[in-house]
Amino acid sequence: MDHEASAAHREVTRARRTEVLRLIALLLLPTVAQGPIIRRPYAVRVAAALDTNAWACRELDRLRERHGPGPLLVSVLGRQALVLLSAEDARRVLGETGTSFTAANKEKTAALSHFEPDAVLITRGASRPPRRRFNETALDHPAAEHRFHEAFRTAVREEARPLLLHDTLDWKRFHAAYQRIVRRIVFGDTARYDERITELRDKLRGDGNWFMLHRKRDRLRTELFVRSRRYLDLPEPGGLALAVRGTRAAADVKPVAQMQHWFFAFDAAPIGAYLALGLLAGHPADAARARTDHTYLRACVLESQRLWPTSLALLRDTTVETHWPGGRTLPAGTAVFFYSSYFHRDARRLPYADRFEPEAWLDGRAEADWGIAPFSRGPAECPGRNIVLFTSATLLAELLRREWRLSSRHRLGPGRPLPRTADHTSLRLTAADRPGQPKERAGQGA
Ligand code: HEM
Repeated sequence: MDHEASAAHREVTRARRTEVLRLIALLLLPTVAQGPIIRRPYAVRVAAALDTNAWACRELDRLRERHGPGPLLVSVLGRQALVLLSAEDARRVLGETGTSFTAANKEKTAALSHFEPDAVLITRGASRPPRRRFNETALDHPAAEHRFHEAFRTAVREEARPLLLHDTLDWKRFHAAYQRIVRRIVFGDTARYDERITELRDKLRGDGNWFMLHRKRDRLRTELFVRSRRYLDLPEPGGLALAVRGTRAAADVKPVAQMQHWFFAFDAAPIGAYLALGLLAGHPADAARARTDHTYLRACVLESQRLWPTSLALLRDTTVETHWPGGRTLPAGTAVFFYSSYFHRDARRLPYADRFEPEAWLDGRAEADWGIAPFSRGPAECPGRNIVLFTSATLLAELLRREWRLSSRHRLGPGRPLPRTADHTSLRLTAADRPGQPKERAGQGA
């Protein structure tokens, strides 16, 4: 723990009015505009062009310089929120999730209940432990490989094959292939071409971007749930639906709602994987290593998630009175805000903050730091993490059979600090090898 951030120096400070206004303009609005639940491509493009995450990080740095590393208390439209500024406080808040803090924060619940009411992430109280247990069992958390990983690998390889036949790769094609993979992994192979189920999910996620401001569309949600249920009720379900059939669910678990979260959360994976491929195109030596070392390839996917976290912020609400250094007590119901980019790119803690450093995931540096939390930390840590890493690394291993170069203007190479905001939607890659000369397949253990 650095001296500056020791408990005695981490008192809660109330932000001034002008500071709150600056936080709204430089952090909150750009984050909400990009779409916390489903990205708005145009807003992502503008945010990347302006590098709005860098604005937010600079502002938080300024506040930390002025007030010290303790959490900052802000009031927005009558809602009290603590903005975290130190990894030590992040550790406390994420680690005490389920006791003093709940992951079922009010705004998150409003957003997610459009399409996944009853999902564990937005469950409070006595229903949470059995739902969490159900998720962990069906997803085989924390095993590195799910019991059905062989079937998942087949699905990934089949969907990767057409991508290898083209000499260019863009987001649209990559995303469509990943969507098919997601449907096959979550609902089984029969869902491969069920684009309607993805459309339903994404319409409702669009509503979720508006939190409580959008009305609930019960008809669409019912259609989504009925369609999902059908895969579960097949005589021979596939994918995670089969794991659900094999997992005992207590009365209140609501397996279909849990599956909705998997289906939704999986949509962040293509963003991380595609940016990882972009990074590898900009770092040919790392790509060469990733071709033969599957563990390194997983680390590259994690590193992409550190650099451009797809969970833009982690939100908590306090469930009891909480006590903070300096003697401040805050009432239950205070929001807590962990802005992922700020912690993931904090040069004060991380000498490698703005460069591609997959090694940090192999030598324990990233794991030891609770400020690095692309899959969260503590009792609400993502139980789908290893399924995502397996899926993305297996797909990238296939794609790395070709040699890709960046053909869009993204600055993803070494030499200059990596931008803090990235637009995956306009990233384009071109194969630099001649067709028919694929590279050796990456780590056969993939
Ligand atoms: C790149 C893809 C993904 C990322 C970045 C991600 C990240 C996260 C994060 C940050 C949380 C915790 C949020 C919080 O602390 O407030 C979370 C929770 C969760 N994730 Fe993921 N996730 C991904 C994909 C998946 C997938 C594919 C599944 C399932 C197959 C999954 C299942 C879950 C579940 C069930 C929770 C709730 C845990 C709880 O409340 O106890 N996630 N995920």
